[in-house]
Amino acid sequence: MCGIVGYLGNKNTKEILLDGLKELEYRGYDSAGIAVLQNNNFSNYKAVGKLINLEEKTKDFVTNSFAVGIGHTRWATHGKPTELNAHPHLGESSYVVHNGIIENYVSLKNELQSDGVKFLSQTDTEVIVHQFEKNLITAKDTFEAFSQTISQLQGAYAILLVTKGEDETIFFAKHGSPMLMGVNEENEKFFASSDTPLIGHAKEVNYFEDGDYGYVSKNEIIIYSKDKELQKPNFQTISTNRLSSQKNGYRFFMEKEIYEQSDVVSDTLMGRLGENEINFNEIDSTLFDDINEIKLCACGTSYHSALSASYMFERYAKIRCCVEIASEFRYRDPLMCKDTLFVVISQSGETADTLETLKMAKKEGLKTLVICNVDNSSMVRLADACILTRAGIEKGVASTKAFATQVSVFWMLSLYVAKLRDAMDANQLAKQIHLLREIPSSLKISDAIHEKIKRLSKRYLHGHGFFFIGRDIFFPLALEGALKLKEISYLHAEGYPSGEMKHGPIALADPELFTIALLPQHLLYEKSKSNVEELSARDSTICAISAIEFDKADDFIQINECQDYMLEFFEMMIVVQLLSLEISVRLGNDVDMPRNLAKSVTVE
Ligand code: G6P
Repeated sequence: MCGIVGYLGNKNTKEILLDGLKELEYRGYDSAGIAVLQNNNFSNYKAVGKLINLEEKTKDFVTNSFAVGIGHTRWATHGKPTELNAHPHLGESSYVVHNGIIENYVSLKNELQSDGVKFLSQTDTEVIVHQFEKNLITAKDTFEAFSQTISQLQGAYAILLVTKGEDETIFFAKHGSPMLMGVNEENEKFFASSDTPLIGHAKEVNYFEDGDYGYVSKNEIIIYSKDKELQKPNFQTISTNRLSSQKNGYRFFMEKEIYEQSDVVSDTLMGRLGENEINFNEIDSTLFDDINEIKLCACGTSYHSALSASYMFERYAKIRCCVEIASEFRYRDPLMCKDTLFVVISQSGETADTLETLKMAKKEGLKTLVICNVDNSSMVRLADACILTRAGIEKGVASTKAFATQVSVFWMLSLYVAKLRDAMDANQLAKQIHLLREIPSSLKISDAIHEKIKRLSKRYLHGHGFFFIGRDIFFPLALEGALKLKEISYLHAEGYPSGEMKHGPIALADPELFTIALLPQHLLYEKSKSNVEELSARDSTICAISAIEFDKADDFIQINECQDYMLEFFEMMIVVQLLSLEISVRLGNDVDMPRNLAKSVTVE
């Protein structure tokens, strides 16, 4: 997920752009760049790696008169993190920055190339600037050429474009990726992907709606809606507190990240769902040649997503799959066979134990794949292949959106492998792809359910322990629910397979034993229900989570009716995350930085 900034005014354009990018660096930091148009002359700087490299490169560049400028910090999606792939991208006499994915870039690029246009980068973004310059030849004016260009793009974007013919103007468009514009009394104009870069500069901001496009100049702000209607800007006063602004009004980063899941999973799915197939352009399907088993290895929350994956690989792709805790795998002299694909899963890509298992697998000559959220991390650099989860930076130590995006990637990957192995017919595959498209709506959180969980949480602040129980793929979700609660409430919690409770743990059942029961309507409902009834008969306190009313429970949290158990999985995931959050808040704990934990564990 990239970050973009723009500035039009008389002040120090370079500083304003670089300061803005610093605020957005969390969105991606594999390269950065700026382009400034001053007295009809362009200056352009790009650098690979963190922003500090760009600062170094621009240290002698001075901007002290009126200028327009755009900047970008990149989280690579198309093309490696190189200087050529860094934004802004140049045409003949224009520069563009873009956040999002242009889904039809291949067909646009082919056509432009057949017109003789030379491309410098491997990015999807570069087509925008060339298409714009092509349209400029026949359009009646620059804005018409820009508007035509936007109407030719499919996918998600926030775009800023500057061009020599209009050296006092910034053109913009937004669809599916965030962008806002700020103004002040000095007639300066600012653009950014989030409001933090604008704090201290702009007095008022306009958050663009999807489909908005237009331009700003010294004295004009022209915004058209998706229906091509001229719009008045809808200015709002901007917060003056940077920290709370980063939290977008949420109390904690964890809460913000729980709410962000619908959007980030849309990013995870973006460009990967075809009509009848899953596309992972970043991997070569030969990775799965001669593979008879998948071995997944991870720690913590990533281990739970790996466990979920094992159900999907075996059920959908009909391939043998096993899951290992990295710290165990390292020292147990494991047997590794060449027909095994070794997959590591890590939010950070830096967890020491997981990294070590990847090294072991490579040493044994196994093919390796990493599912990761951080491009350029150690695991991404080491593995043969990589799929990025695109969750954006996760600040809360208790992982939430990283988990949701990992499970989404695994769902897609299991279908990708199913197709390669002919394990699923075309109808089933199309149905699964349709379901995948529904995940973002299953992750939307209603005020009613959050309020209900907030109210209920007061009854779960004591007791001698929690059992989160579920069957099948809801067992790893039960483990993850228990881990969330432990991490931030410091209460004892365990995840258990529902059917296993009677083999020991049920001995603990009494009113002070809290059971959080996951009861999906579309997967083994009757069996799971009987297990909960066994606990209820022994006076355990039950909080049931289901779409179907359940009268044997003391408390009941109702999720929406879903078409499939996988969508119920995501709905229930939100419930267990919010329940942990609200219990932790009531106990007065530090939700974002719980005691004794660290976001990234780079030691054994
Ligand atoms: C730490 C974090 C957990 C995380 C685990 C694995 O323990 O606190 O939230 O799940 O590391 O991290 P990784 O970055 O490899 O997914």
